[in-house]
Amino acid sequence: MRKNYWNPTDYVTKHSFVYEYGNDLISLLKPKKTDVILDLGCGTGNFTQYISQYVSKIIGIDSSLEMLEKAKEQFQDIPFINKDATNLGYFEKFDAVVSNAVLHWINEKEQLTVAKNVLNALIPGGRFVAEFGGFRNCDKIFKAFERALVKCGIEKSGEFYFPTISQYGAILENAGFDFKYAALFERKTKLSDAQNGLANWLKMFTLPQYQYLSDNIKESLIRETENSLKETELFIDNEWYADYVRIRICAYKPKGAAE
Ligand code: BEZ
Repeated sequence: MRKNYWNPTDYVTKHSFVYEYGNDLISLLKPKKTDVILDLGCGTGNFTQYISQYVSKIIGIDSSLEMLEKAKEQFQDIPFINKDATNLGYFEKFDAVVSNAVLHWINEKEQLTVAKNVLNALIPGGRFVAEFGGFRNCDKIFKAFERALVKCGIEKSGEFYFPTISQYGAILENAGFDFKYAALFERKTKLSDAQNGLANWLKMFTLPQYQYLSDNIKESLIRETENSLKETELFIDNEWYADYVRIRICAYKPKGAAE
């Protein structure tokens, strides 16, 4: 799983839309009062806490200790555990696994392992409901950022996984899931903090992959990216937008599958 250097406080104060949008997944998850749920990649726990009101029990797991610390500080009644989706090793079985804005952080090569781990964590008939970045997610921002990297003579670092429906559907089916539903849709999203919106977004989601650069170079990358997007539909009335594309899926562990 790809390592990011998270700032949990900024995540909650400046990027809360990431987990707030996850709340829409409730209509796909259709939680029941008796459900025991695993939130895969719970981050600061806000989405876990939202789901917790609808179910009997929910556990949040995340590979980032910083994010988990914030989750535990915010929501003391929910169990949060440090675990990586690529190495779940769970003994407990869940009625559903839910995941918001996480799977794009995992390399393409590891996606099948993660899907198999999720299947293994489910009871037969259990469901996997997820939303993450889909094909061409944040394409305009990434292209502008890549132009800035070239201009500053810096090599690109890290890749995200933004699949099409058929690419991710094949992974789910290869893992053994009954793949029932998928949607890929654009969700242009206003970034918080007006003129600083894009800079904040780059600092949270992209620049952590470039820890080794000086603050001056990071600032140049931000200014270059902003300059190449200033005349586009991502900057309107002094507000920045991200060209998000989401993929949403629902898949079931076959009822006849071994536990
Ligand atoms: C996303 O949530 O779509 C995202 C996260 C990190 C980088 C790019 C996009």
